[in-house]
Amino acid sequence: MRPRHPMDYSRAKTRREVLIRQRRDIWTPEQIESLARHFGLKPGMELLDAGCGFGYAMRTWGRFCLPGGKLTGLDRDKKLLSQAARFCTKEGLGRAARFVIGDVCKMPFEDNAFDAALAHVVFCHLAEPEKALDEMIRVTRPGGCVAVFDNALAGSASSGWTNWREPTVDEKLLGHEVGIRMMNGRRELGFGDFSVGCHLPSWMEARGLRNVGVRTNERVVWVAPPSRSPEQGTAYRNTVERMGELVRWDRVSKTEAAQMRAGGLARGKFDRHRRINRLANRAYRKAMRGRTAAYAWSAPFWCISGFKP
Ligand SMILES: C[S@@+](CC[C@H](N)C(=O)[O-])C[C@H]1O[C@@H](n2cnc3c(N)ncnc32)[C@H](O)[C@@H]1O
Repeated sequence: MRPRHPMDYSRAKTRREVLIRQRRDIWTPEQIESLARHFGLKPGMELLDAGCGFGYAMRTWGRFCLPGGKLTGLDRDKKLLSQAARFCTKEGLGRAARFVIGDVCKMPFEDNAFDAALAHVVFCHLAEPEKALDEMIRVTRPGGCVAVFDNALAGSASSGWTNWREPTVDEKLLGHEVGIRMMNGRRELGFGDFSVGCHLPSWMEARGLRNVGVRTNERVVWVAPPSRSPEQGTAYRNTVERMGELVRWDRVSKTEAAQMRAGGLARGKFDRHRRINRLANRAYRKAMRGRTAAYAWSAPFWCISGFKP
């Protein structure tokens, strides 16, 4: 039996963690504004959010197309679309928004239907991301912006620091190997590629897009005791909320086992890595409960954009 896709949104926990909480930590309000300017978004424009999930991109950048604009969210998951519609209504975008069920690699839209097309953290889940890029370009009007937000993790090491348990060099190297091999396994199984962002600039250039550029997010989430300022309080609360969502380190899912095999990772190494994570996790909970935790981390995302000639 084919293993389930690692991003299985039928689980409420995955939906909450990935589509709501993670989104709070990616782009700062200043960056959102400056990206909107760069994309050339203006009132009255028609915007596509391809693979919209809960509609993060259309809710975030769609407001720059109002009043008068139209926002379209496309996703293959009906349940996510109905939640996206509820969020849009709650945030006053309901009238401008519409939702369409469909495949980002075969979009149910006419050529040149939109002024701009965005895809936020979708390409890393696709087996054939170039098809989705072709479709985004096809449905965008000449002069319009095509922007893909995604990961560009070509086996990069962890981008954070904590005060609760410093791993040894061997443990860090092991974590790095596990990360790379699991990522390779994921790609081999057709579950997508977390390095897709690295390829997107040349894919856009090859398709003749103009002014191709890459931007990264600058947000660093940090907490230091006693975490009293409003920003620190929010960061602290978000992390505490996350404690309830942490994966259970003692279980190996069928998908993980398949990724391990496909990526050439020995089971013993995976198990050792889990044991190390369990120790870190325990120390982390203690530090959060005692309000002694200090940490800083960033989730690096890229925004790769170009303009249709
Ligand atoms: C990580 S979520 C991102 C959702 C949203 N863009 C965001 O940033 O919150 C990936 C989304 O892509 C959708 N998706 C994956 N493959 C798809 C496909 N081939 N066609 C349409 N949607 C797809 C999933 O249903 C999911 O909503």
